[in-house]
Amino acid sequence: MNEPQDGARVDIDDLMQDADTLPAFPSIVTEILARIDDPLSVPDDFTEIISRDQVMVSKVLKFANSAFYGFPRTIVTLKEAVIILGLDTLKSIVLAISTYSTLNANSKGYGLDKGGLYQHSICCAMIARILAKKYKSENKEKFFIAALLHDVGKLLLDPWLSRHKSEMLDGIRNGNLAHWEAERRVLGFDHAFVGSKLIEAWNLPEVLIHVTRYHHNPEKAPLEHRSTVEMIQAANIISRRIRGGLGSEFLPPESRTMEDLQHVLPLAEDEVRSIVREVRTYLLHINTFI
Ligand SMILES: [Fe+2]
Ligand SMILES: [Fe+2]
Repeated sequence: MNEPQDGARVDIDDLMQDADTLPAFPSIVTEILARIDDPLSVPDDFTEIISRDQVMVSKVLKFANSAFYGFPRTIVTLKEAVIILGLDTLKSIVLAISTYSTLNANSKGYGLDKGGLYQHSICCAMIARILAKKYKSENKEKFFIAALLHDVGKLLLDPWLSRHKSEMLDGIRNGNLAHWEAERRVLGFDHAFVGSKLIEAWNLPEVLIHVTRYHHNPEKAPLEHRSTVEMIQAANIISRRIRGGLGSEFLPPESRTMEDLQHVLPLAEDEVRSIVREVRTYLLHINTFI
């Protein structure tokens, strides 16, 4: 069940206290997710939530007015932005912008510069959104936010990994372990477990807890959430082709991507290439904007 192992070197409750040092989790994300889950919600509910945050509104308008969309006249209201971008895209943009302050941290223990974790997260989120559309999943934003937050546990684990760096590297290089397996061996639990505890503490939907906890081993996820977890794992695997933000977690050779992917999602090489192309275009755009 991915629970901490007996004799874990770090006490999980002590570690969770460090959560107080993280930026407050954005309430706009919680509110949007609650509306997504509410079958009675209507499009105006989302624009109403967003319109309460004027900084967010100006960012969304800037996005809608960017050359990327090439709209011939200036968009001045949120309602017009919904028409141009579509409500689903608008929700993804708001989720991406609002989690920036949470995920844009230094992750030296993972070999990442500031911004690296956000780059990896946004990259996985875009891939997950494309996969959700491809497989006609009902709720693209659920996949988007699940992928965006899947590695959030790295924020808390990072300082501990820095302290045990040489043991970690020994496990990876000489023990042939994946990064998360080395975390479990050295500390007693991994970033996936820590992340799921954070998601729980932030009162986010249950499916996000399971996606985060089992994203490296979806076969252990409860049956009702397994296909979602597999989709996020697939996005995580495809993101290796884009590289940014993997730091020392990136280990398998390029050729392993397709092999690993076949265990969770039977995509062909040309389908993966087309997803990577699409995400690269979006990433260039998002990065100039955020
Ligand atoms: Fe991970
Ligand atoms: Fe990841």
